[in-house]
Amino acid sequence: MCPTEIMRLPAISLNIVSNQTLSMLQTDFLVIGSGIAGLTFAIKTARRFPGKQVTILTKTNTDETNTKYAQGGIAVMSGNDDDTFDKHIEDTLVAGDGLCNKDIVELVVKEGPERVQELIEWGANFDKDSSGQYLQGKEGGHSEYRILHYKDITGFEIERALLAELKTIPNITVQNHWFVIDIITQHHLGYLVTKSTADIECYGVYALNLNTGKNEKILARMTVMASGGVGQVYRSTTNPHIATGDGIAMVYRAKGRIENMEFIQFHPTAMYQPNRHQAFLITEAVRGDGGILRNQAGEAFMEKYDARKDLAPRDIVARAIDNEMKKSGTEYVYLDCRAMDREKFLHHFPNIYEYCKSTGIDVFESMIPVAPASHYCCGGIKTNEHGQSSIRYLYACGECASTGLHGANRLASNSLLEALVFAHRCAEDAAQYFSQTAFKPEVPDWDASGTNDPKEMILITQSLKELQSTMSDYVGIVRNDIRLRRAMRRLDLLFEECEQLYRETTLSPQLCELRNLITIGYLIVKSAELRHESRGLHYSTDYPYKSELVQNVVL
Ligand code: FAD
Ligand code: SIN
Repeated sequence: MCPTEIMRLPAISLNIVSNQTLSMLQTDFLVIGSGIAGLTFAIKTARRFPGKQVTILTKTNTDETNTKYAQGGIAVMSGNDDDTFDKHIEDTLVAGDGLCNKDIVELVVKEGPERVQELIEWGANFDKDSSGQYLQGKEGGHSEYRILHYKDITGFEIERALLAELKTIPNITVQNHWFVIDIITQHHLGYLVTKSTADIECYGVYALNLNTGKNEKILARMTVMASGGVGQVYRSTTNPHIATGDGIAMVYRAKGRIENMEFIQFHPTAMYQPNRHQAFLITEAVRGDGGILRNQAGEAFMEKYDARKDLAPRDIVARAIDNEMKKSGTEYVYLDCRAMDREKFLHHFPNIYEYCKSTGIDVFESMIPVAPASHYCCGGIKTNEHGQSSIRYLYACGECASTGLHGANRLASNSLLEALVFAHRCAEDAAQYFSQTAFKPEVPDWDASGTNDPKEMILITQSLKELQSTMSDYVGIVRNDIRLRRAMRRLDLLFEECEQLYRETTLSPQLCELRNLITIGYLIVKSAELRHESRGLHYSTDYPYKSELVQNVVL
């Protein structure tokens, strides 16, 4: 593949996807999402139960996922003599700013090497030096070089390898262009389900088959939410269009537990291109290899903010950039790669080099304009150490889950690792309890009565823009009570208008995504309002200190 092809990250075409309608609208294991988390769970479970059906639903093309865009790599203790589990654990805890669950951190870091080895056995390539040793990169908050990578397109390579592995397993079906609307619980059988209902159960999902336009009921004995992140709730994001927080919103509507939604990670160095909604990322590994942030005056400013300078954890770097931009009244700062080793840069970052070149920037001659963009959701569906959500028969893994690993701020390149470890744990746990599950045939079909085709799709697009502006202007990197109150009032109005559309019009992915994003906005603002302190990614000028009380916000 030539670099310009890599730059555009083409579809990974493996001919394994199937567009036909599900033959029976029931499946033993239902997986929502075809990123690293969903695919890993599916591969493991299908291999363990060759006589059972594993179905993956995905709302666009199979490979269109956050996973595909991952650049930096996977943080894992391997090969570097100076590194230890303890150092990786400590770095994760420091970044998480007091809110990580230490047991979870330990298990992810210690189980990580085995999971990454499996990925390698399934065919994923990581860069090696001429003696065959894995090359390891460094990113913000890491005390050692421990990030395995494949050039600057690690996620593309992982997604490719997982899809190739999947192709070898006959009892997995991938159904693309199926938009999951809601998970089915007792509520759909007419029972009152509240937050305090002890045993909410998941029986499958309602999903919109975008190939036929029909809303279908899909029954499952076990369901896994692996629906990824929420980046699209902000105006500028590194996330692709699929990242609309659907799974988190569905679980919240079903009265499942959601936590730590105030901790939205802004990546410090997305390329500044005001007309591009999915911002092109300049991986932190560039700073790991010597890239330097400079303000409009050309000053290397990070030393004013943190002794770790350009490699301080992301929350610190993003806030420093935000502050520099506010001081100078500009919308970006610069990443200076001009002094970096040319050969090394071209070898490690060919995609970034080509992309910048396509925009007229030769990174060895000019600095790259960069600005923070929403990147990662540290909170999400609350899960335990086995990946179980608070809803029975529903697991969650990957970015939509809140496992306790990240706390108030995720250490760079820990999320692909977390997804692998927890997809495995979900698969182990699901295998143990599978024989105790059954289909729930009495679930009613989707009722679309009383709805009509939308007259004006523009209402949805306008509301989405308003939502993204509200979140970016009032609930960004630096917050305060007045801004949060303003945001909440605007969200209330958007919510009312959207609910009316939802009740009265035929469902479309655009409407459902808007509805989900408004819920995500609400969860972020509500959680931020409840945190009367500054910790990790949540910084409030009204509470610029840490509280003595160290606790998660659970909604
Ligand atoms: P995803 O890979 O996002 O997959 C989500 C899936 O859910 C998709 O298939 C989607 O279609 C499906 N879906 C969602 N909603 C619905 C619905 N309603 N119905 C049906 N299907 C649905 N992390 C690292 O550790 N290292 C890195 O170097 C790194 N770099 C990154 C660079 C970028 C630009 C981005 C955006 C993220 C990066 N991350 C990185 C984060 C990491 O890539 C993600 O956290 C991770 O890939 C998420 O995987 P996932 O399987 O949970 O979800
Ligand atoms: C990056 O490559 O900078 C992103 C890594 C991550 O989000 O973990």
